[in-house]
Amino acid sequence: MNSGADFIVVANRLPVDLERAPDGTQRWKHSPGGLVSALEPFLRSKSGAWVGWPGVADVDVDEFEDDGLRLIPVTLSATDVRDYYEGFSNATLWPLYHDVVEAPVFDRAWWDSYVKVNHRFAEAAAAVASPGATVWVQDYQLQLVPQLLREQRPDLRIGFFLHIPFPPVELFMQLPWRTEIVRGLLGADLVGFHRPGGAQNFLWLARRLVGLEPSRAAVGVRTRPGLIHVGDRPVRVGAFPISIDSAGLDGLARKRDTIQRAQQIRADLGNPKKILLGVDRLDYTKGIDVRLNALQELLIEGRVDPDEVTMVQLATPSRERVEHYQRMRQGIEQVVSRINGEFGKVGHPVVHYLHQSVDRRELVAFYSAADVMLVTPVRDGMNLVCKEYVACRHDLGGTLVLSEFAGAAAELTSAFLVNPHDLDGVKNALHAALTIDPAEGRRRMRALRRQVLTHDVDRWARSFLEALGSQGLN
Ligand code: ADP
Ligand code: F6P
Repeated sequence: MNSGADFIVVANRLPVDLERAPDGTQRWKHSPGGLVSALEPFLRSKSGAWVGWPGVADVDVDEFEDDGLRLIPVTLSATDVRDYYEGFSNATLWPLYHDVVEAPVFDRAWWDSYVKVNHRFAEAAAAVASPGATVWVQDYQLQLVPQLLREQRPDLRIGFFLHIPFPPVELFMQLPWRTEIVRGLLGADLVGFHRPGGAQNFLWLARRLVGLEPSRAAVGVRTRPGLIHVGDRPVRVGAFPISIDSAGLDGLARKRDTIQRAQQIRADLGNPKKILLGVDRLDYTKGIDVRLNALQELLIEGRVDPDEVTMVQLATPSRERVEHYQRMRQGIEQVVSRINGEFGKVGHPVVHYLHQSVDRRELVAFYSAADVMLVTPVRDGMNLVCKEYVACRHDLGGTLVLSEFAGAAAELTSAFLVNPHDLDGVKNALHAALTIDPAEGRRRMRALRRQVLTHDVDRWARSFLEALGSQGLN
């Protein structure tokens, strides 16, 4: 029997996913998404345990150690994956929390599955936590875990962080299980959001749905958390904008190999005058269609010359069995082929679309090679891609076009900020970024780097854990 852990992260996914090849062999690979990108480097530098799903249905894997990190797999059956993960998490909560940009589906069987699976995660965390341990529960898939865990283990210090936006109260109120979710989160000692607005919305809901008396003062960024008393237990509610391993990426971008690889990428693309880049999970919230439509219109109007400008879109496959995602993928692939059909030449497509995940070094080389980074989500909790791009531009080259509807826009104010619903605005910003005076570009990038390099993921985690009063770190 393994000993208990003092510090435990509980997330839907482990930081590594099991991949099974058709020949039956299997290997572990890096899991997709911002949560893992942010938390993994932080947790690997500590001694901790991570409870999560190995990414494939119906596999029973024993606890194992990966580079000093204890990984505790939670099994999901094929039905759990369909109803809890693809269903309630990604076809109900995901669209609801992202401003209903797609219609959320309210299905009672999916909710039952969500409850059942949240119980399983809570039990796994309760079994591994040593007395008085800190347990840090992550994201929208596990919003009932704080309360379920507290019922089993009142000795624990429990934090919860939401990695996606917390919606306006009018939208949250649509959810048939709204009170259960708010009660689930109130099981934590500290509930964290990216932005003060999310914290403020949650405080309002605790009053309206649970009849509690939350504090009324405005919540600050990393300061002045709100306070609610649940019985005699205080629950704090704060804003902690997440970030990246800025120094790690900066170091990687400065390496000779990376610089050479970036030059090679430019050469492989035919050394165009300007390279545009998009990097996202293939998700309808990311506004990949927005940037493609903007580029298409600029090409039609002759404001962008296809002989001078090339775009690369890297898109990690994501949630491929959810209908919203299937529709969006078709739409994006149609625009890509329309642009290439109209404006490409043999051996020189205008848009290089890779429905693939690339490894970290390769990604840094792409960031280093790109003149304009396009980050245009219609709604995003934070968005780490824009911060990664900035961290990689020690040369002060490159320009960032960023949606106002990404959480990161509140911090990265020297980017070209755009409203993704205003196509003319996006086109003008894209054009301005392509034609920017180099001195102005350097000035903007310097300001962006000051922000990203001083506000890294370590600072995020420490500010959260300090507010939680955690003793579990070493
Ligand atoms: P989300 O959590 O919604 O996926 P974020 O922008 O916060 O969005 O984080 C995405 C993470 O996934 C980043 O660390 C980014 O580098 C990584 N990523 C996205 N697309 C790719 C890709 N095609 N190849 C490799 N990494 C990717
Ligand atoms: O932060 C958003 C998030 O949904 C994470 O919770 C998740 O791990 C990541 O994006 C990737 O999504 P998925 O786990 O559904 O592939």
